Amino acid sequence: MAAAAAALPLLLLALAAAALLPARATDPSVFLDWDVSYITASPLGVPQKVIAINKQFPGPVVNVTTNYNVAVNVLNSLDEPLLITWDGIQQRKNCWQDGVLGTNCPIPPGWNWTYNFQVKDQIGSFFYFPPLSMQRAAGGFGGITVNNRAVISVPFDTPDGDITLFIGDWYKKNHTDLRKILDDGKELGMPDGVLINGKGPYRYNDSLVPDGIEYTTINVEPGKTYRFRVHNVGVSTSLNLRIQGHNMALVETEGSYTMKQNFTNLDIHVGQSYSFLVSMDQNASSDYYIVASARFVNESLWTRVTGVAILHYSNSEGKASGPLPDPPNDEYDKTFSMNQARSIRMNVSTGAARPNPQGSFHYGQINVTQVYKLRNEPPVTINGKKRTTLNGISYSPPATPLRLADLDGKEGVYALDFPTMPSDGPPVIGASIINSTYKNFMEIVFQNNDTKVQTYHIDGYAFWVVGMDYGEWTDNSRGTYNKWDGVSRCTTQVFPGAWTAVLLSLDSPGFWNVRTENLDTWYLGQETYIRVVDPDGGYNVTEMVAPHNMLYCGLLKDKQKAQKPHGSSASSSPALKQNGGYLVAALVSLVALVVVGH
Ligand SMILES: *[C@@H]1O[C@H](CO)[C@@H](O)[C@H](O)[C@H]1NC(C)=O
Ligand SMILES: *[C@@H]1O[C@H](CO)[C@@H](O)[C@H](O)[C@H]1NC(C)=O
Ligand SMILES: *[C@@H]1O[C@H](CO)[C@@H](O)[C@H](O)[C@H]1NC(C)=O
Ligand SMILES: *[C@@H]1O[C@H](CO)[C@@H](O)[C@H](O)[C@H]1NC(C)=O
Ligand SMILES: *[C@@H]1O[C@H](CO)[C@@H](O)[C@H](O)[C@H]1NC(C)=O
Ligand SMILES: *[C@@H]1O[C@H](CO)[C@@H](O)[C@H](O)[C@H]1NC(C)=O
Ligand SMILES: *[C@@H]1O[C@H](CO)[C@@H](O)[C@H](O)[C@H]1NC(C)=O
Ligand SMILES: *[C@@H]1O[C@H](CO)[C@@H](O)[C@H](O)[C@H]1NC(C)=O
Ligand SMILES: *[C@@H]1O[C@H](CO)[C@@H](O)[C@H](O)[C@H]1NC(C)=O
Ligand SMILES: *[C@@H]1O[C@H](CO)[C@@H](O)[C@H](O)[C@H]1NC(C)=O
Ligand SMILES: *[C@@H]1O[C@H](CO)[C@@H](O)[C@H](O)[C@H]1NC(C)=O
Ligand SMILES: *[C@@H]1O[C@H](CO)[C@@H](O)[C@H](O)[C@H]1NC(C)=O
Repeated sequence: MAAAAAALPLLLLALAAAALLPARATDPSVFLDWDVSYITASPLGVPQKVIAINKQFPGPVVNVTTNYNVAVNVLNSLDEPLLITWDGIQQRKNCWQDGVLGTNCPIPPGWNWTYNFQVKDQIGSFFYFPPLSMQRAAGGFGGITVNNRAVISVPFDTPDGDITLFIGDWYKKNHTDLRKILDDGKELGMPDGVLINGKGPYRYNDSLVPDGIEYTTINVEPGKTYRFRVHNVGVSTSLNLRIQGHNMALVETEGSYTMKQNFTNLDIHVGQSYSFLVSMDQNASSDYYIVASARFVNESLWTRVTGVAILHYSNSEGKASGPLPDPPNDEYDKTFSMNQARSIRMNVSTGAARPNPQGSFHYGQINVTQVYKLRNEPPVTINGKKRTTLNGISYSPPATPLRLADLDGKEGVYALDFPTMPSDGPPVIGASIINSTYKNFMEIVFQNNDTKVQTYHIDGYAFWVVGMDYGEWTDNSRGTYNKWDGVSRCTTQVFPGAWTAVLLSLDSPGFWNVRTENLDTWYLGQETYIRVVDPDGGYNVTEMVAPHNMLYCGLLKDKQKAQKPHGSSASSSPALKQNGGYLVAALVSLVALVVVGH
């Protein structure tokens, strides 16, 4: 185990008795205290401010077991509002803890807010990150590993160690500069590199990589097998992952055990998580490269967008040298990556978080009750601003979180008129969302009309990925659906000029974010929400009650009690611009409270 520790300080989880939770008191609890602040780091050789958690970049891995109650007290030591969202953690019936603007007021600079949630009915590899305004481009991310309880079997032998890898494209410009580029209607352009666990590339080529860059080393023992949990936490680049000379046996993705399958490389899109078993079965005559290189771009122009870490056997006789292992040679085969994705199947005969087989829920036999086709297009200009859309609507988050507006009977904050199909009308900016009913079974088709891969994520649920293909989705496309062993996950890629169809069982009331994980198009409005209402139950019956520490803002700001800010960062809060500036209003009202609180 010491081997895996290399670049990843895992947080020591302190057991705590504290339970503000509407959960079984007998389930174990962990309490985490996080100070989120800037630190200076030079991952690509240039000093820049990155977002760290307790001074760590990337943040600590939250290592818990299913059914644990998790409390995370987040202190915002940044100079702008902050939320943390827990990608893939389902927050069942408890969207209050989801940490996005539709459900939570942002934590003002200098304030803290404690998340309380239970990781329930899920096992696997997930990650957290700050979802507001491109902050993830500066860091603030870390892993969430949800382990199985001992009574639940796992479809492979217990690995000898657990290694988490964060791969992602990276800019030397900080997130405030990146926001400005987008606000000015420009494109972010080619990233400056790819980081692996917060560090730049190993110097595999003297002319491509300058001297003095710190890189990640993964220390392993010969003959052992490790579980690599890999997360693409980047801005918008799809990455191809490969480990020189080693097979990567895929076993899990975002909480589903997959049919075990060997890959020599796999495309991992922004926001996606995978587990591979990797056996250290090669000779130790040298170290080996771990590579994450840019995909779906002109790779001969994008050579610098390559992450390289080192796999080091304890008995290694020398450094890695020579060329990197080749990326897939598929310039003329646009189905290569799609076929890779389609080959990922759920192992329907293995156990899941609940003591029942994964395949016992026969999603292919359930009648769909609602169909949405969501189409994104290349950016458009609305009111003189460059924006992105879904079905012609560019989402702009209201100052009042949607769920709070509902709870308090405030009307007119959002509209339930999201179109079921793409329209050819003029694009608009607004807070238009999808209306749905508890226990509906929804089919969502993502149609990507842009020229770049988009990955879509839905909060609160795992969905079955039942089909993807090039061209325009039609009713006939349903004939190609995988109705048996489609993988259940929370983030799926949609190739350019192609569609991906997912099925979703809406068994958790609340407001749930549907978004692209690509930070640039998300920032410009490519998201919406699904409102799931239980007409027969609802608040305090099928949905949990709001937590007592709820923050208020927007139309409800008068309900917020002042909090004495920690430290001094609170008095200097620049207005944050996100999605048309609505958030500025929310922030200004919170800042006003901070001042009053003095
Ligand atoms: C994570 O927690 C599990 C269960 O408590 C433990 O067995 C494992 O060693 C931990 N993993 C790491 C990497 O600390
Ligand atoms: C802020 O942290 C303190 C402990 O430092 C805690 O008592 C308080 O509940 C937290 N505030 C919120 C809103 O969670
Ligand atoms: C599927 O799960 C079963 C039960 O755990 C396991 O025995 C089998 O090896 C798995 N199959 C594959 C291909 O991963
Ligand atoms: C980002 O960089 C710009 C200079 O390019 C600087 O003005 C700004 O303060 C920086 N922001 C952060 C959060 O470091
Ligand atoms: C290093 O990269 C350059 C530019 O791609 C290439 O021309 C050169 O052959 C590479 N050097 C080695 C030793 O591979
Ligand atoms: C996967 O690769 C390993 C060697 O790393 C090999 O033993 C195994 O048979 C392969 N499995 C499949 C399904 O090809
Ligand atoms: C070790 O493996 C490498 C790569 O497979 C091979 O080139 C080399 O000859 C091997 N060395 C020994 C001592 O077997
Ligand atoms: C990629 O860029 C190279 C170098 O500019 C150029 O020669 C090549 O034609 C480009 N390839 C494609 C597919 O555009
Ligand atoms: C689905 O709909 C069909 C036709 O309307 C009906 O015969 C069938 O019983 C329904 N299946 C379920 C599981 O409700
Ligand atoms: C939204 O769905 C709920 C629950 O099914 C229903 O009661 C309500 O009438 C719907 N509202 C609109 C505007 O469609
Ligand atoms: C976008 O839609 C237009 C009109 O339907 C179509 O002609 C074009 O091929 C589509 N482009 C992509 C990349 O899907
Ligand atoms: C929720 O229901 C419980 C039990 O019926 C009740 O004691 C509690 O006051 C309710 N809470 C709210 C916020 O309505």
